[in-house]
Amino acid sequence: MAAATLAPNDLEAFWMPFTANRAFKAAPRMLVRAKDMHYWSSDGRKLLDGAAGLWCVNAGHSREPIVKAIQEQAAEMAFAPSFQFGNPKAFQLASRIAALAPGDLDHVFFCNSGSEAVDTALKIAIAYWNAKGQGARQRLIGRVRGYHGVGFGGIAVGGITPNRKMFGSSLPAADHLPATYNRAEQAFSRGEPAWGGHLADELENIVGLHDASTIAAVIVEPMAGSTGALPAPKGYLQKLRAICDKHDILLIFDEVITGFGRLGHAFAAERYGVVPDMICFAKGVTSGAVPMGGVIVRGGLYEAFMKGPEHVVELFHGYTYSAHPMACAAGLATLDVYESEKLFENARALEDTWADAVHGLKGLPNVVDIRTIGLVGAIDLAPKDGAPGKRGFEAMEQSFHHQDLLIRIAGDSIVLSPPLILNEDHIDEMIDKVARTIRALA
Ligand SMILES: Cc1ncc(COP(=O)(O)O)c(C=O)c1O
Repeated sequence: MAAATLAPNDLEAFWMPFTANRAFKAAPRMLVRAKDMHYWSSDGRKLLDGAAGLWCVNAGHSREPIVKAIQEQAAEMAFAPSFQFGNPKAFQLASRIAALAPGDLDHVFFCNSGSEAVDTALKIAIAYWNAKGQGARQRLIGRVRGYHGVGFGGIAVGGITPNRKMFGSSLPAADHLPATYNRAEQAFSRGEPAWGGHLADELENIVGLHDASTIAAVIVEPMAGSTGALPAPKGYLQKLRAICDKHDILLIFDEVITGFGRLGHAFAAERYGVVPDMICFAKGVTSGAVPMGGVIVRGGLYEAFMKGPEHVVELFHGYTYSAHPMACAAGLATLDVYESEKLFENARALEDTWADAVHGLKGLPNVVDIRTIGLVGAIDLAPKDGAPGKRGFEAMEQSFHHQDLLIRIAGDSIVLSPPLILNEDHIDEMIDKVARTIRALA
């Protein structure tokens, strides 16, 4: 017998991710259409997208060439297995991504999300040391305030308390560098804060505690996105690279947010002149149009696995939808848009104008810090007494319902990361809407 039918517009059945479900279902923020820099709400309003969806729609919404590529691929071959078989676009896309990556980062493992990319990179790191006969190297070092998705590996190295505390102790062999943010030293920084490079030296203490022979890899975001856009301090990433080199520890950059132009380069690794051993990517690779993630690895790592009988699988890892043909088609079309419209260059060219505009919000009520880097901006609002996160939540509701602007919040911070097709008029309009939002809450 059929179960009682839910009303077609019932909001109850969908358990929404990273959402205050009860608050949402009482006052929904429903998105029904999108084009270029805008969303449309279910009540017909056109909203400026200040968040590139969720840090991913870097080429803008529903772009013609990407839509066409997905449609054509769906008709030609919507699915093909990547275990023991291939589809041509997977190889093309891997080559294109490898060509964008610095140094000898020249092999690409595909998956479907940032969380899977992180877990894949962590597993490759541990397996690599096994393959090299150093199986004791299993420890993984993340950072406080880091976000590496929601898999068990990602939360083990991640540094966001609520993401960890409900889920047991996760991987035992994880440790953490200290967070790089210090408001007293860094408030209202533009780009990389001058203070904090020395915090990378903490890695030496961690190595001293555990011994390098037990450490597989260090994983960090070049800019911590989800905890309020915290750029790496000047010299920090270069120092991490030097310490990892000294102790033969792999360095992984989680570029799920910073990849594909967010900081004005294909990868932040290029901006900082630091070549990690692996780069995790997702989001911008398809401009969010089809789920896709992946890990770019240095040739030497790949080669370490290419031994033994040739008919035997070298890495026992992969996902049914790894290198999904529709994601590959979307990825190739997205990279074409980035290239032909010079969107990474646009992000770089606008960085100063953007920073001027965002920092112009200084002095508005409750604004206690502002940070900018690339096409990212974060505005920290003072929390309400006894209700952390409430002012941030109200900012999101105010901007959505009354200012026709979509923003992302991290606690009491407003975080902006617009599509890279942004122009100066969009910047003026967006910052004006943010200012109105902040004033309305005062
Ligand atoms: C740095 C970083 N890593 C991993 C992830 C997880 O990606 P996903 O939500 O696609 O699993 C995110 C998501 O925002 C991220 O910002």
